[in-house]
Amino acid sequence: MTGRRPFVVAIDGPAASGKGTLARRLAERFVLAHLDSGKLYRATALLVLAAGADPADPGAAVAAARRVSPAVLGNPLLSSEAVARASSILSALPAVRAELLSMQRDFAVHPPVVGDRVKPRGAVIDGRDIGTVVWPDAAVKLFVTASPEARAERRAKELRECGAPAIYGDVLQDMKERDARDSLRRVAPLAAAPDAVIIDTTGLDADQVFENASDLIARALAAHRQ
Ligand code: CDP
Repeated sequence: MTGRRPFVVAIDGPAASGKGTLARRLAERFVLAHLDSGKLYRATALLVLAAGADPADPGAAVAAARRVSPAVLGNPLLSSEAVARASSILSALPAVRAELLSMQRDFAVHPPVVGDRVKPRGAVIDGRDIGTVVWPDAAVKLFVTASPEARAERRAKELRECGAPAIYGDVLQDMKERDARDSLRRVAPLAAAPDAVIIDTTGLDADQVFENASDLIARALAAHRQ
């Protein structure tokens, strides 16, 4: 550690808004380590469900959050809708959020090597509360959103590509319930930081969104180096 603040890009937004894809592409272009913070909540949910416990039970959920490991984070079952639903229930529990907070902060302070053992220049983290709670002084904050219908279309397509049967109406309904739970919870709700750049990707070309975000990051990186 040099004592300098790490370079952090915070990307928040609702389910299937395109934030994950954008985060991955930006990380690759700018040699940043990428953390999908939703996976931490999903991994916790998977462990709770595997134990036959209730995601709303703080004891069971905190015990599961402590057991999140690289193996669980790589489990393909994380992408299921049942896990998504359970993760949004336990993510409203303050003790669960507190348990997962240090992992997310440490990630940016000590970002893991990327690609062929290259030391990253910083980190990009996507989630719901990265710009508001996890890294409120991030160098770049983006809030990526899209209409519920556009997001449900994307998520249904993703699920079908993974071989899961997905009915658009059910996916839309699940997503609206999850958005409401994530936005209305008392602790770290889904919200844009006051200084976040809002990007509505409904009907927008993903490459254009990527180029616009890249311009912001290139400028912030240049300023960070000075
Ligand atoms: O991929 P998708 O956008 O559908 O969801 P995700 O990012 O994998 O997050 C799953 C759930 O974890 C969300 O619905 C939130 O309830 C929770 N979450 C959170 O509370 N805070 C974060 N920083 C990230 C996810």
